[in-house]
Amino acid sequence: MFVAAAKALSSATTTSVSRGILLGIRHYCKRTPVKLRVSEAVSGAELGANVKVQGWVRSVRPQKANLFLHVNDGSSLQSLQVVASSELTDPLLTFGSAVEVTGTLKKSPHHKQPVELEAEQIHVVGECNPLDFPFKIKDRHSLEYIRQFPHLRCRTNAFSSLLRIRSEATTAIHSYFKENGFVQIHTPVITSNDCEGAGELFQVEPSGPDINEDENFFSVPAFLTVSGQLHLEIMSGAFSRVYTFGPTFRAENSQSRRHLAEFHMVEAEVSFTQSLEDLTKVMEDMFRSATEHVLAHCVEDVDLFHKHVTPGHRDTVESMLKKRFPVITYSEAIDILNRSSQKFAFPTDWGCDLQTEHEKYLVKHCGNIPVFVTDYPYDLKPFYARDNQDHPEHTAAAVDLLVPGVGELCGGSLREERLDLLRARLQEAGLEDTYSWYLDLRRFGSVPHGGFGLGFERYLQCILGVDNIKDVIPFPRFSHSCLL
Ligand code: 4AD
Ligand code: MG
Repeated sequence: MFVAAAKALSSATTTSVSRGILLGIRHYCKRTPVKLRVSEAVSGAELGANVKVQGWVRSVRPQKANLFLHVNDGSSLQSLQVVASSELTDPLLTFGSAVEVTGTLKKSPHHKQPVELEAEQIHVVGECNPLDFPFKIKDRHSLEYIRQFPHLRCRTNAFSSLLRIRSEATTAIHSYFKENGFVQIHTPVITSNDCEGAGELFQVEPSGPDINEDENFFSVPAFLTVSGQLHLEIMSGAFSRVYTFGPTFRAENSQSRRHLAEFHMVEAEVSFTQSLEDLTKVMEDMFRSATEHVLAHCVEDVDLFHKHVTPGHRDTVESMLKKRFPVITYSEAIDILNRSSQKFAFPTDWGCDLQTEHEKYLVKHCGNIPVFVTDYPYDLKPFYARDNQDHPEHTAAAVDLLVPGVGELCGGSLREERLDLLRARLQEAGLEDTYSWYLDLRRFGSVPHGGFGLGFERYLQCILGVDNIKDVIPFPRFSHSCLL
């Protein structure tokens, strides 16, 4: 009975409780190994125990008497050193091969790792021909190089660190919203609205032999969402604070280092706002809280980037967190640009959209820390942005957060909650019928509200110093890219 119970438990991922039970059971049936993740093994949790570790070989060093391997299973940047008698040497044990190692966890005599696995058995689960494998054991490959292998790059240290950081940052963002009383809403991926009005839409239609091409599947043309904002606005009218975090699509024909056709946007919407400050506070708090969480929980993974991939970036991140983010108006930003001795490729007259070169200059000018730019020209902003009704300049209560190395990270605004003003703007654009449901929100219990969207990939670029957005997403989609 004990053997059966131990087998059943050892095949499951072990928690500390089940490991405790297992150790007790092993007292009776000594040879049943505990299955451990590499991160658990290197933490020294099961010293002296008979364990099984599964993963991929990161290095092989055959020596006279012993064979040394490093095995990694993605649970941490660290690999587990395996020491085996040279009798266990196998030509199939190569860099990249998948293995299952059983043996005893021991204190290591080498100071570099606290623990090593003294192997009794090594089973090659999956071979890997090192001549064909695109990554080489001794080379430190650049992000550009590994990007050519989207199906294999998660096997490299840099990209697996990136993906663990990405996962932890996702958790941090959800935690921030949970701790601050926001309700998560799953906004739709398929929608009929073009929230941003920029026309960068992917249309959605079924395909197949029985499809009538003259007829829409839905009763209206449908698109992949460019923003969950309008759906969040619906929900903020009942829950006061809502957010969403999901895939977002823009059919931008751009090959830039900060645009993707499919990216992830964090969007929040807050009711009963009094000023833009209610939004900038959420943006800044979320940025700080997520970044501090990532720095505290992904120490080794972040270090790999800050030391080897983007040296020096740690200082930039630390200085970002030290000071409050400054706030300047768009008009002040234009003054700063016009007073600058730098020559810009794009115009800097009042009314012009800020380009990446302008955004980067403004960030530098403000001390290379994130900076809020508020109150953009009314005509630059979509129909939903709240009219400031100011003269002679005519601005909307919109705000962007610009950050070092990236430029625009967040875009948001107070929303036009006044029915007459919103209706007039929609009428002018010929959109009154399309957005009659949106006008309803201003008819029934309308309140001042506002929100913003943060580009999650740009956030990762900002905290890690990664230059190209294609290096911070598992499977980048951009125009003319190959899709797996
Ligand atoms: O500034 P955007 O277009 O704002 C909106 O969509 C608002 N409706 C959001 C809201 O208020 N709820 O996009 C927000 C952010 C940008 O600041 C940028 O960081 C990111 O989304 N973004 C992109 N990231 C990667 N690739 C693209 N093509 C992106 N377009 C926007
Ligand atoms: Mg924007």
